[in-house]
Amino acid sequence: MTSEEIRKKFIDYFTSRGHTLVKSSSLSPSDPSVLLTTAGMQQFKPYFTGDLDAQKDFGSMSTVSIQKSFRTSDIEETGDATHQTFFEMLGNFSFGGYWKKEAITFAYELFTQHLNMPISYVTIFRGSAAVPKDEESRAIWQSLGIKDIREEGMEDVFWGPTGTSGPCGPTTEIYCKNAEGKDVEIWNIVFNQFFYPGSRDELLKGVPGKELKPLAIQGIDTGAGLERVVMTKQGVQSNYDTDLFVGIMAKIRELAPLAEERVQRIIADHIRASVFLIADGVRPANKDAGYILRRLIRRVLAHKIKADIHGDIFGSLVPVVQQKFGTIYPELNNPEILNVISDEQDKFEKAVVGGLAELKKHAVLDAAGAFGISSTYGLNFELMKEMAPEPTSGISQHDFDREFKKHQEISRAGTEKKFGGHGLLLDTGELKAKDEIELVKVTRLHTATHLLQAALRQVLGNEVHQAGSDITAERTRFDFTFPRKLTPEEIKKTQDLVNKAVADDLQVTFHLLPKKEAEKTGALFFFKAKYGDPVKVYVMGESIDNCFSKEFCGGPHVGHTAEVGRFKIAKEEPVSSGVRRIRGTVE
Ligand code: ALA
Repeated sequence: MTSEEIRKKFIDYFTSRGHTLVKSSSLSPSDPSVLLTTAGMQQFKPYFTGDLDAQKDFGSMSTVSIQKSFRTSDIEETGDATHQTFFEMLGNFSFGGYWKKEAITFAYELFTQHLNMPISYVTIFRGSAAVPKDEESRAIWQSLGIKDIREEGMEDVFWGPTGTSGPCGPTTEIYCKNAEGKDVEIWNIVFNQFFYPGSRDELLKGVPGKELKPLAIQGIDTGAGLERVVMTKQGVQSNYDTDLFVGIMAKIRELAPLAEERVQRIIADHIRASVFLIADGVRPANKDAGYILRRLIRRVLAHKIKADIHGDIFGSLVPVVQQKFGTIYPELNNPEILNVISDEQDKFEKAVVGGLAELKKHAVLDAAGAFGISSTYGLNFELMKEMAPEPTSGISQHDFDREFKKHQEISRAGTEKKFGGHGLLLDTGELKAKDEIELVKVTRLHTATHLLQAALRQVLGNEVHQAGSDITAERTRFDFTFPRKLTPEEIKKTQDLVNKAVADDLQVTFHLLPKKEAEKTGALFFFKAKYGDPVKVYVMGESIDNCFSKEFCGGPHVGHTAEVGRFKIAKEEPVSSGVRRIRGTVE
């Protein structure tokens, strides 16, 4: 059975059972709390929380999709039999419609009867302090004749949340045997029963004040990696031997016949992933999703050097990927994709030539020396070790990371010094001031921005998270997650709350805390910002336990909130789906 037939069988199975087919969302998500789309459920988060109505938008309480997904967490395993960074996820979803019995029965029927793939064993949730053991799923599997039912815990069979908060719940997984008789996890069925107001890390470690709350509607979220399903169905030994990859792998073998199999697979994955990322608007950069893309491209180029591959690897392979997937994903048919890669390749080659020449000058390097070369030439440590194993042999990743941290602290101190000095010109990314008069203004607006975020969360709820901010002497511009337009009453209430905090003249202080401890205080932090350790937590109010606002922040702020002056919301508008923007001024 070809992958095209498997796609079709999956979609047909669910559409003929009342599911609306929904197109894959972009890899670059509108949800600002995640960098890239990692699962099919992400575009449906507001339907699980009840913020949007599936019946209204899809004409059904259930949907089916094949979602473009990317997981950085799988980067180290990429190239083994069953992992890639980019993959496609088959999924069916229910938003308050059917529940466990139907979800499990659908999966069972589709696999065993329509795809003819026997189930080796399944897992169920063994229970935790907060969530009981999933006896219901066990009974359903038993009634379908499945005998091998294994219990697992939070780490393995409890999904989510993705990003900084969201729906989550226990899961049941299906395992099938691959061509070698090894069990491979094929399908994960999530029972979205809860909402957690924090990240998955926080959920696993437990944070005071953050509890699982039942969701108003119960949802089903399932995910099966297309590549693994195809591998199992086609009886081949790895995802890279399926028809999704054969054309790409054949071309790589032609260009690099002597490279190790694993390296060939990494090249295949990274080029395919880069094409998909660029098609969805990601561009190489030094942070966020752009950095991930840059790493993928540079890793391929590093392997090209190491494996002594002479051909034009991207020029030969990008069209193969475009041809294979361009019918399903028309956004791939974009000539810009190869240009973006060629530009990055030029930059990289310059960096490598310069960096290598520099590395060769040293018989031995210490961490500080390696860091200097790394930052001058934009080369990561892993690659430097590959290019120059001898001079770098005495340095571990840990030494290098420590050097990196030290450097971050020095540059932060430099920024702070600029603040206290004269003739200021300030640009922290968030705050901009060209002189001292402007500095006073942006500082007041900065404090106002913290008050605004706290007020928004009081009025709209804790779903509100910072998605960006930009402060000039004229105004603050604050972006935050929220699914709809604010009502005039909500805007007024928010503005009044900020002005009440100003009138109350709260003291503004900061605490320097180890990052772990700072997280436990429940202080807000902007997910994209990188904070050092220890971090400053700015508190507006009596104490860190009893305050109007607390946030991780580098400052500067006014000493007392009365200095902010009268705050006014000048404008409220959308930025993108799920993100709103407020412009505010102070008088
Ligand atoms: N969201 C679930 C997963 O990705 C189905 O495993």
